[in-house]
Amino acid sequence: MKKIWIGTNWKMTKTIEEGIQFTKGLREISEAVTSNLQLFIIPSHTSLVPIKPLTTAANIYLGAQNMHWEDSGPYTGEISPRMLAEIGIDMIELGHSERRQYFNENDEAINKKVHAALNYSIKPLVCIGENIDQKKQQISKETLAAQLKVCLQNLSEEQAKEVLIAYEPVWAIGEQGIPADASYVAEIHDFLRNTLEGLFAEVGSEIPILFGGSVNHDNFLDYIELENVNGLFIGRAAWNIESFQVILQQLDSHLASNVSPIL
Ligand code: PGA
Repeated sequence: MKKIWIGTNWKMTKTIEEGIQFTKGLREISEAVTSNLQLFIIPSHTSLVPIKPLTTAANIYLGAQNMHWEDSGPYTGEISPRMLAEIGIDMIELGHSERRQYFNENDEAINKKVHAALNYSIKPLVCIGENIDQKKQQISKETLAAQLKVCLQNLSEEQAKEVLIAYEPVWAIGEQGIPADASYVAEIHDFLRNTLEGLFAEVGSEIPILFGGSVNHDNFLDYIELENVNGLFIGRAAWNIESFQVILQQLDSHLASNVSPIL
């Protein structure tokens, strides 16, 4: 049994001070939960430097929400992998649906960023998901397979082993989102696992696939029970540390009572 990944992208919500307070709280919680969980947080760029020492001490992975693929150059407003590596971040979130929707990010650009991240030993957390029209047209699987293939193009098996996938149906994300049925999530995650195994014969079975989109106190256990759900990527329900704590503690006891200890 592998570690369960669980973490939160703060999107554009927390100031530096708010982020520090949250992380101090998470650090305390992390001391109380077992090693079955790999925690991570993904703050805004401004908070990465002050938060880094807090996460290192607590074995919480630190991620950034986006980056360019070039090391440096005339790209006003962008931040490079070299700059993020200097901070010592552990992971980079790539291709969140909000980046795709509002900033025209596409699979080809995400693929360049995946390669750039790996060159700096930063773990890419690649977000994929179908929108409501694609779901209605019953092309969810085709859409997701194409996203996976292009985002992970030209990776070696060794590189693919470092990647994390987050499946987040666009129609399930955010205030207007409708939480997905666990049966649908099971079907899609099984499909994603098969697709990854097809793309990477050696490591496709090991690449963690996280689920996200309106994950909350009422549904997270239903999702985490599923065979090919290897983690949870949470927005709103994890932005308040007390709320996140409830999820983490319940998940921790659930895992402790249901699985053999992690080796
Ligand atoms: P949500 O956000 O949990 O608030 O729906 C999920 C996400 O965007 O990753």
